[in-house]
Amino acid sequence: MSNLLENQTAVITGAASGNGRGIAMRVAEEGADVVVADIQEEPRLEGKPTHEKVRNETDRDARFVECDVTDPEMIADAVDAADEFGGIEIMVNNAGIVLDPASIVDTDMEDYRRLIEINLDGVYAGTKLAAQRMIEQGDGGSIVNLSSTGGINGQEQITSYSAAKGGVQVFTFAAAADLGEYGIRVNAIAPGVIKTAMTKEDREYIGSEMGEKRKQREIPLQKFGTPRDIGDTVVYLSSDLAGHVTAESLLVDGGITNTQ
Ligand SMILES: NC(=O)c1ccc[n+]([C@@H]2O[C@H](COP(=O)([O-])OP(=O)(O)OC[C@H]3O[C@@H](n4cnc5c(N)ncnc54)[C@H](O)[C@@H]3O)[C@@H](O)[C@H]2O)c1
Repeated sequence: MSNLLENQTAVITGAASGNGRGIAMRVAEEGADVVVADIQEEPRLEGKPTHEKVRNETDRDARFVECDVTDPEMIADAVDAADEFGGIEIMVNNAGIVLDPASIVDTDMEDYRRLIEINLDGVYAGTKLAAQRMIEQGDGGSIVNLSSTGGINGQEQITSYSAAKGGVQVFTFAAAADLGEYGIRVNAIAPGVIKTAMTKEDREYIGSEMGEKRKQREIPLQKFGTPRDIGDTVVYLSSDLAGHVTAESLLVDGGITNTQ
């Protein structure tokens, strides 16, 4: 703990579970209050709700706001909730889903549209609404969008997810171009396989004997990432340490993508 985000406020979508929960804990450990914006209060795997965990385990405050990122009014309410802590300095557009793996020929257009609505439109709306508020406040800010290695190279059976995450990548760069003049930095994080509810089945496969061999061959660091790894990266990107970093996407993937 070094108070890299002292007296700031972070609004984090999808923060009830997984990466969002890890991000909430890390930014609070570094001095930020947190608005947990999610469709559900309970974490998908286990434990107390994130806002309670932040309050119990750090010296910062947190509150839960019910928010479905497909509804811009609910995102606006989550941004407004930061006023209780003095305004928003950090927005993390993290909420996302995956579909069951399927070849493109077997996908359903309704499922595709739902995924795009959450994983891409939700990031667009979250960036826009947070940026509008940051511009009103007049003191810059940091926006971090969750992309994926699946948004960088083509992987089998996840075409909808790749379409959304590829969109998040370049959208992040374009938004950074629009917002730089206001001192608002916009960056992305592209995780590999992180230990969350989203990857439970994948990891169980990879935990099998065949999967273990694949893990050793594919992941140079030979381990999965944790939500804390993602939280650490948000802390860096949102702190003064990254004061000249914008329109960047950081791989947090144990080395998979650049060594294939
Ligand atoms: N886990 C990984 O390996 C991995 C890899 C690459 C990218 N990511 C990205 O990280 C982000 C978080 O994923 P995770 O692994 O923590 O998943 P998760 O399923 O553990 O958590 C996702 C959270 O998002 C919430 N959520 C779902 N739909 C929502 C909606 N419409 N509005 C608001 N909240 C909603 C869920 O309730 C849940 O709390 C996602 O954008 C995901 O694509 C994850």
